[in-house]
Formats: sequence, C-alpha cells, structure tokens
Amino acid sequence: MPYTLRVNGNVHQFDIDADTPLLWVLRDQLRLTGTKYGCGVAQCGACTVLVGDRAVRSCTVQVSNVGDKAVTTIEQLEGPEAAAVRRAWINHNVPQCGYCQSGQVVSAVTLLKENRRPTDRDIDLAMAGNICRCATYTRIRAAMHDAARTLQSKRRSA
Ligand code: FES
Ligand code: FES
Repeated sequence: MPYTLRVNGNVHQFDIDADTPLLWVLRDQLRLTGTKYGCGVAQCGACTVLVGDRAVRSCTVQVSNVGDKAVTTIEQLEGPEAAAVRRAWINHNVPQCGYCQSGQVVSAVTLLKENRRPTDRDIDLAMAGNICRCATYTRIRAAMHDAARTLQSKRRSA
C-alpha cells in the first residue's frame, strides 16, 4: 500500500505493508541508521525517534499510524535543547559503546523541551525506558543537568 512520510524535512513515498514498523522504513529504506534496533518490543529505547513532538519507539509504531506528523531522527535533531545535549554528552564523555545513545539523546531532548529544570527523579522517570547495557546512567544524568544549566543561562542572557 502507498504511504507518504515526512522524515527529517523530506517527503518520501513508500509502497509497503500497513503494519511495517517505522524503524524498518528509517533504517532499511532511508538508510538513517543512527536509529538502532535493540529489542523490537518497545522495551529498550534504542529505536527512539520523534513523531511530531513525541518521543516514540519506532520498532512498534506502524507506518499506517504515523499520518502526516513529522518524523525526526537523530540525524536531524536540531534546536537549542539538541545543541545543549550534544555538547553536554561530549563534555561528560557519556557514550561507551554508543549503541543506545541516539535513543538516549532523543529522550533527553524531549524532556528538556518540556522541563528546563529537571530533578534527578524527573530525569530517572523520563529516561527509564532507555536501557544502556554499558550503564552510562550516572553520566547521562550529569550531562542532562549540565544541558539544563546551559539552557537556563541562555534564557537569562536572552
Ligand atoms: S528496539 Fe525499539 S524499544 Fe527496543
Ligand atoms: S553506551 Fe553502550 S549500550 Fe549504552
């Protein structure tokens, strides 16, 4: 069946089954391999992308359910929150093997868009669905506080 998806600002047409997971379209058809396959059952967060403003697990979102909402992957994640998170991730040397990190970054950016002053608990709750086999959780939390401080100071100086 034909579907039109808006991904990273570009419109693409596909002739695929309605129940095809968004993740396979991103990785196999569009070669956007920054989004990873981990569990396939919405448990690990490696496949997290934005659909509209929401962070979703693309391994369980069917193409037929995306509609006309914009899909944004790690390759095109932009804006002040994304810039602050990327910088903080580098400053805190967050990634170890890196496999989970694109999903972690998408979830982190989503939280910081909603909450510029997250507590440890806010961070733990928001990031609970993103599993890291290398256990980089302490650095992720520190980097998110760092990114939040950057965003707050930008707002004060604006
Ligand atoms: S691959 Fe989608 S949540 Fe694990
Ligand atoms: S950095 Fe290796 S799984 Fe998270």
